[in-house]
Amino acid sequence: MPPLDKLLLTSRQAAGAVPIRFVASDAVKAALGKMSAAERKWAKAHGFTGARLQTLMLPAKDGAMASVLVGTGDDTGRLDPFAVGALSSKLPAGKYVLDDCPVDERLTALGWLLDAYRFDRYRDVSAPDAALVCPPGIDRADLLRIADAAKLTRDLINTPTSDMGPAELEKAARNLARAHKAECRVVSGKSLERGYPMIHAVGRASNSPPRLIDLTWGRRRGPKVALVGKGVCFDTGGLDIKPASGMLLMKKDMGGAANVLGLASMIMSAKLPVRLRVLIPAVENSISANAFRPSDILNSRNGLTVEIGNTDAEGRLVLADALALADADKPDLMIDMATLTGAARVALGPDLPPFYCDDDELAAAIANHAVAEADPLWRLPFWDAYEAMLDSKVADINNVGGGGFAGSITAGLFLRRFVSKAANYVHFDIYGWTPTAKPGKPHGGEAQGIRALYALLCERYGA
Ligand code: BES
Ligand code: MN
Ligand code: ZN
Repeated sequence: MPPLDKLLLTSRQAAGAVPIRFVASDAVKAALGKMSAAERKWAKAHGFTGARLQTLMLPAKDGAMASVLVGTGDDTGRLDPFAVGALSSKLPAGKYVLDDCPVDERLTALGWLLDAYRFDRYRDVSAPDAALVCPPGIDRADLLRIADAAKLTRDLINTPTSDMGPAELEKAARNLARAHKAECRVVSGKSLERGYPMIHAVGRASNSPPRLIDLTWGRRRGPKVALVGKGVCFDTGGLDIKPASGMLLMKKDMGGAANVLGLASMIMSAKLPVRLRVLIPAVENSISANAFRPSDILNSRNGLTVEIGNTDAEGRLVLADALALADADKPDLMIDMATLTGAARVALGPDLPPFYCDDDELAAAIANHAVAEADPLWRLPFWDAYEAMLDSKVADINNVGGGGFAGSITAGLFLRRFVSKAANYVHFDIYGWTPTAKPGKPHGGEAQGIRALYALLCERYGA
C-alpha cells in the first residue's frame, strides 16, 4: 500500500482537491436545485436519493471529476464516521477534501487511513490511492502515528508463523526499539529455566527457542508504564491439541504482543513523558517429546506452583512470569493484552474485547476513551468469588477453571494472582482479528484497544 502520509495531505497540498459533499435524503431536492442542469440530470439518471452512504461522482463539463456526493440518509446521527472514511477504498486515485462533513472529521480522516490498509507482503495487491486533505484543526501527525501503529500491529498478526516465530517477533521488537532509541534485552532458551520457568516450559518444544523480550524507553524518572503482550506465535494447543478448525487462525496468538508493540510505537513517537517498559514472552506452543504435559506442576517466577489442567491454556502461563517481572518495578500502570480465551469471543464477539480492571475510575476512563476513539471495549469483572474455580488439589493454583464456566474471567483471575505491587492493573482479552471486514477494519489482523489506551495515556501523562 502507499505510504500513509501520501493518503492524508496537508492543507498546503489541497489545491485541486475534489470536494466530498454530503446530502441528506430530505434535502436532496434542494441540493439538486442548486446544481447545474447537467449535474442534476446526471444525479437523477443515477438514482441519487441521498440514502445513507449512497455515493455518486459528478463529472465536470470536460469529463474530470467535479465532486463526490455522499448521502447521509434521514438520520445523520446514525452516520458512522468510519463508514465515510471507508471512501478511501472506494474512490479512484486522486485528491479529495471534506466539504461540510456532518460527522466527526477526525474520526472520518482516521477511518480513511485505517480502511486503506492492505497486507501485501506475499503478493501485489491493488491498493487504494485516494488521498484526503487533512481537515482543518486536526492533528495530522497524530493521525498518521495512530494509523502507522495499526499497520504495524496488523502486519505482525497477518504474517504467518513461518515468518513470524519467536525469533522474528524478537527482531520486530528490536527494529521498533532501534527506531526510537529504546533499549531491548532478550533472555532466551535455557537461560529462561531459572527466572522464567513457565515461559520456558511452554516454549521449549519448539525449534524456535522461547524468549522474553524486554524493551525500555523514556524518562528515567517518569511515571512507570508497563505493557505486557502475549506472544504465542503459534498455538497448537500443545499435547491437549486443538482440532483443525480451532488451530487454523492460531498464527494470531501473538496478537497481544503485536498490539502492545503498536501502542509502544505511539507512545514513543509522541514522546510521552513516561518510563515505558514492554515485556513480551515470545513462544510457540508446539508438540514434541519434550513438550510440557497435562498434570505437570510448574514453578513460576513469583513462587506459586501451577498445576497444568490443560496445555492449551498456555497464554496465562507465559504472561504470568512476565507480569511478575513487570510488577516488581511497582509500575504506576500495568497493562496486559492477550488473545487469551475463546470464551471472550463467545461472550462479546470478535469486535468488542473485554477488559478487566479493579479501579472503577480508571475503568470508566478507559470505557469513555473507547467510545471517543471508536475503539470498542467492554468492562467485565475480576469476579473474586470465582477464584475458587482455579483451586488445585496438589499445587497452589490450576491453570484452568474447573467446570468450564466464565472462561475469560477465570483466565483474568489467574493473571491477577501474579500482580501485587502495580498501582493499577488492566487486562485485555482481545481477539486480534477481524473475521468480516467492516468500515475501518479490513479482514485479518486487527489492532484492538490501543487507540483508546493511547488517548488515555495522553490524558493521564501528556504535557
Ligand atoms: N489462544 C487461545 C485462545 C483463543 C482461541 C483466542 C480462539 C481466540 C480464539 C488460548 O491459548 C486457548 O487455547 N484458550 C483455551 C483455554 C481453555 C483450555 C481453558 C480456550 O479458550 O479454549
Ligand atoms: Mn491455547
Ligand atoms: Zn493461546
